[in-house]
Amino acid sequence: MGNEAENISQKILDTYKEKTPGSMAHQELAGRYLPGGDTRSATYFSPYPVYMERGRGCYLYDADGNQYLDMLGNYTSLIHGHAQPAIVEAIREQADNGTVFGAVGAIQYRHAEHLCNRIPSMDMIRYCNSGTEATLFVIRAARAFTGRDGIIKIDGGYHGGHDLAEVNNVPDIATDGPPRASVHAGVPASVLQDVQVVPFNELTAVATILEKDADRIAAIILEPVLGAGGVILPQDGYLAGLRELADRFKILLIFDEVITLRLSTGGMQKLTGVMPDLTSLGKIIGGGLPAGAFGGRADIMAIFDPAHPRAITHSGTFNAANMVMAAGLCALTALDQPAIDRINSLGERLKKGFHNAFQETGVRGLVSGIGSLNQVHWCDDPPQNARDAARALAGAGELPGLLHLELMNRGIYSAKRGMFVISTPMTGEEIDKTVAAFAGTLARLKPYIADRYPQLVV
Ligand SMILES: Cc1ncc(COP(=O)(O)O)c(C=O)c1O
Repeated sequence: MGNEAENISQKILDTYKEKTPGSMAHQELAGRYLPGGDTRSATYFSPYPVYMERGRGCYLYDADGNQYLDMLGNYTSLIHGHAQPAIVEAIREQADNGTVFGAVGAIQYRHAEHLCNRIPSMDMIRYCNSGTEATLFVIRAARAFTGRDGIIKIDGGYHGGHDLAEVNNVPDIATDGPPRASVHAGVPASVLQDVQVVPFNELTAVATILEKDADRIAAIILEPVLGAGGVILPQDGYLAGLRELADRFKILLIFDEVITLRLSTGGMQKLTGVMPDLTSLGKIIGGGLPAGAFGGRADIMAIFDPAHPRAITHSGTFNAANMVMAAGLCALTALDQPAIDRINSLGERLKKGFHNAFQETGVRGLVSGIGSLNQVHWCDDPPQNARDAARALAGAGELPGLLHLELMNRGIYSAKRGMFVISTPMTGEEIDKTVAAFAGTLARLKPYIADRYPQLVV
């Protein structure tokens, strides 16, 4: 590495360490009890993550008192930011009366009624505690209803941490043809017997599987906008094409709207008019507390009714805990159309600002996404699937990590992988601040990029 490039990366690291000695001390203590000092792979980054102590509105404050604009929102779940007064009050009021009862409660069906009213395909719903559980149970529902075990999923589609969801949750970048299905350590290879993996945005791959194997397939599950795989939009006709294939071959279509519910009052299905049979939900529906849910067509969801002749068991000690329902209903009620329009347009402003920054600094890069969800990619051809995005990310090597650290040095907290998420407490001022920090960081990194990754310089 040239001297100038070396100096730039070292200086960024030094500044980070100078600003965050308290976090470094915490990390040492945490490492004694938590493997790697963390309890969630996604929140770790090198040299050590910041320890946040407080959040208010769209700002976070770390162990050293540094303030950060929160462009992560706990990975899209905190749509109203931190400690939103009405949500805090709803939590406090419910906490005063007990957090969870091991019994049904009216707040549960009120929350369910709210979701069913806003999500077009949602006739009935069941609750759980996370998006992971939501996708686990939505798949179980599809299998129980159809009597088949096979599932089609997307290469690089992210549905949480259960065995089936782990299959190609990181895309296959090693091959060029159809993605090879694989699992990570700890997941039995036997799970692959029932999963077939297809690239996002390719209808023919799905059709080919169904022509051969439809009578073994219960459902196809996908995020209608690929999330962790790169915030990639479906091409025109892709979702409608999947609906048509599902109908033709009599399998179920499942949308995982754990992230995308935020895009409209009724998620991507409402935006596109393409109705899935089943939907999984999480993140924003708990108002900042842990929540998940799944639901859809009444004839499918009826299988969870204890009076159903083939009823399947669905339990969970904290399912629809009253305090979560109270916070969630408050958050969802506040997330009306004007609120969604506002954050979506702030997201578009951010996207435009980042695009300008790439152009002005002469670095190859773009921003994908929609509305309040944005993702930086280090390439100039928009990625169409998770493999495209992962290859661009791999090609940028250490650069995304350095950009992430330097943005933190400048008071912006985002996902290390380059995702920027808008929340309702933000205004144009926060967006402009983020764009300025991004443009300044890119300009600072330009000589480093020219030295290490010359292919990214225009
Ligand atoms: C689309 C999608 N589905 C499921 C999950 C899993 O949700 P959780 O982390 O609540 O288990 C996530 C989490 O990021 C997600 O993005």
